[in-house]
Amino acid sequence: MTIQAIRGMPDLLPDACNIQSQLIRAAADVVESYGFREIRLPLMEKTELFARSIGEVTDIVEKEMYSFDDRNGESMTLRPEATAGVVRAVIQHSLAHAGPQKLWLAGPMFRYERPQKGRYRQFDQFNVEAFGLAGPDIDVELIAISARLWQRLGVTDSLTLELNSLGDGAGRQRHRDALVDYLRAHADVLDADATRRLESNPLRVLDSKTPAMQPMLAAAPQLPDYWDDESRQHFETLTQRLDALGIAWTLNPRLVRGLDYYSRTVFEWTTTELGAQNAVCSGGRYDRLVEQLGGKPTPAVGFAIGVARLAALMEARGVTAQPVADVYLAALGEAAEAEAVVLAERLRDALPGVKLVVNAGGGSFKSQLKRADRSGAQYALILGESEVESATVQVKPLRVRDDQQAVAQAALAGTLRERLQASEAAA
Ligand code: HAM
Repeated sequence: MTIQAIRGMPDLLPDACNIQSQLIRAAADVVESYGFREIRLPLMEKTELFARSIGEVTDIVEKEMYSFDDRNGESMTLRPEATAGVVRAVIQHSLAHAGPQKLWLAGPMFRYERPQKGRYRQFDQFNVEAFGLAGPDIDVELIAISARLWQRLGVTDSLTLELNSLGDGAGRQRHRDALVDYLRAHADVLDADATRRLESNPLRVLDSKTPAMQPMLAAAPQLPDYWDDESRQHFETLTQRLDALGIAWTLNPRLVRGLDYYSRTVFEWTTTELGAQNAVCSGGRYDRLVEQLGGKPTPAVGFAIGVARLAALMEARGVTAQPVADVYLAALGEAAEAEAVVLAERLRDALPGVKLVVNAGGGSFKSQLKRADRSGAQYALILGESEVESATVQVKPLRVRDDQQAVAQAALAGTLRERLQASEAAA
């Protein structure tokens, strides 16, 4: 038996990889245009970090972490999410002392979930985290960033923004008490999970998907009825500014998120195009977490995009992998092959950014042109004995019906630049 990859940990082959890279580049480009800077952190942290931040009574910590004892007997965990590690680093390096920090981080996360379409055990996230800003201006900025990215990637029509606020302080506690009383009074319809969470994490019962519990949950105490004045003001300013930006949103009073560190604003961009795994981007404020992990009180807010889910939406909208080559250089015969290498390097000097593949491994012109076609190139350049003698190259369009044309080697870079620009403009 040949060895297969681990279940839920998919290989990203070049086409899929290319689409995800387009996504990450666009996302990095957008967030950097708002002043965010990249940070890279270890894929592994001490288990305690996740237990203390995400919460002991959450699906992630209870049953989804890849944890093991290292050779020294210390419990380590492959990160199931990035926020805890970013907070750890912000505290460890006193980053927020220098003023607000706006950070982004992309990379793999690990959760032992039941694999299905859109849900994996290793998956990439693109995270954005802002520290030292109490909002709601920065909440608005994060949502505007995501909306701009959807625009850039052509997926705006696939996504809906759901908002809620968990409130804060005494109001949140009063909601919790009311919810526990309510759930106790309906103990007969609670499933096993809800019964267990009733005391330890009642808020999570609100986003249960169990069909038999839905009518009961619809009538449960709602968070917005318990917001304190400041949380209400925060939410109102946030939504007024979203309205001013023309970003549509809906209030989902039962949106509570699966991690315990949130307070006030929480949001999710969801889609109806991906089946059950409908959240493409989720986040919110976690104003207490820095302090809870031993840092100075520092308000914070962030979100994470599920890269594979967003890439699936892009593909559904017709985004494809970019071609291997823009230009494919075919050469036949010893002299032409030798000249092709020199010519190709000159072209690369003159045309940075153009993808130029030189035929390797010989072959007849016919087979070389077949490879040129498969590379997706717009043009084949043909260099044979007679072209070497006359210092020319045949330029053969591969995607439009047009004659091939002999071009002097000295003029080749200019001709290609013009032609490639023209075909890009036409696309
Ligand atoms: P999360 O909702 O657990 O939040 O994950 C964020 C996004 O990652 C989800 O909306 C989804 O697109 C994607 N995702 C989650 N689990 C999987 C999976 N098993 N397979 C594929 N994609 C998945 C967080 O992780 C928070 N740290 C987000 C955040 C950042 N909050 C504040 N800052």
